[in-house]
Amino acid sequence: MLSKSKINEVIAEIEKFSANKIEEVDAFRIKHLSKKGTIAQLFGEFKTVSNDQKKEIGLALNKLKTTATDKINSLKEELLSSDDFEKTMDLTLPGNDIKLGSRHPLSLIRNEILSIFSRLGFIISEGPEIEDDWHNFSALNFPKEHPARDMQDTFFVEKDPDIVLHTHTSSVQVRDMESHDLPIRLVTPGRVFRNEAISARAHCIFHQIEALYIDKNVSFADLKQTLTYFAKELFGQDTKIRLRPSYFPFTEPSAEMDVTCSICHGKGCNVCKGTGWLEILGCGMVDPNVFELNHLDKNKYTGFALGMGIERIAMLKYTINDLRLFFENDIRFLEQFTAADI
Ligand code: DAH
Repeated sequence: MLSKSKINEVIAEIEKFSANKIEEVDAFRIKHLSKKGTIAQLFGEFKTVSNDQKKEIGLALNKLKTTATDKINSLKEELLSSDDFEKTMDLTLPGNDIKLGSRHPLSLIRNEILSIFSRLGFIISEGPEIEDDWHNFSALNFPKEHPARDMQDTFFVEKDPDIVLHTHTSSVQVRDMESHDLPIRLVTPGRVFRNEAISARAHCIFHQIEALYIDKNVSFADLKQTLTYFAKELFGQDTKIRLRPSYFPFTEPSAEMDVTCSICHGKGCNVCKGTGWLEILGCGMVDPNVFELNHLDKNKYTGFALGMGIERIAMLKYTINDLRLFFENDIRFLEQFTAADI
């Protein structure tokens, strides 16, 4: 039967205790304060105490616990601050690792793409995420009510006047044409927004990179050469490209670029769905209407533009099959990506 004198005995034992080493304090703590230690056992016996004794024994038990905790804390403090500190600590032990963070895979790919374009003389420019209709659509030759607007499931911040979350980084082209003298050679990374159901292949927030080059005598051959260089730098020197005719309101002619599948090298696998080719980006020659809308001389200047999704390229380069992984911030996923220099 649990008695007050039994508890007092343990209290006396605790009060008497002294230690020279931190390990001794630890052993003492385990003996008394761990889950199966003496104090936990005594607390376990509390249920056998008769009702009229409960108050007194309860108080004694609490005193016991605080005595033990205080004792341990003061001994630890004493040992760690004493001149004997070095005796209690092994200073030759290796230190604790400080975990370094790593770059997000999307940042790695973005930086790699930007660095390829900057080697070609493109300068980085950025624009706002909240845009008006003019910059996101009208100035890019998407007339009001034009069906091409449906290609982009727009999030409206305000309707009439239309203020949107920009649906593509092409909106920044318009700002660049407003604010830069020609020639222009810019590359624009950005986060874009579309009202899409979230799945393994689509998200309502994703990232794009856009490039715009306007000068006298820019030709489709310049575009093709830029694309070839870009694809080889990004996916390896044996990469080939092919251009398929396409449609975008702001370019004419427009094309989509495929690269030879970097996984099966063109033989056909399930990533390229057996075709040996992967679609990477949209591009084309700046439509003369866009020059006109932006008050640039369409007879004097020509240009090319291109735009791509960073998630898609990261998925291909790292063979990631679910786009949602990029946004979950699971450290086990993120720590797999490292780059020494970007
Ligand atoms: N803005 C297009 C999109 O989001 C991508 C694009 C296509 C950009 C062709 C361009 C381009 O600059 O020339 O789907």
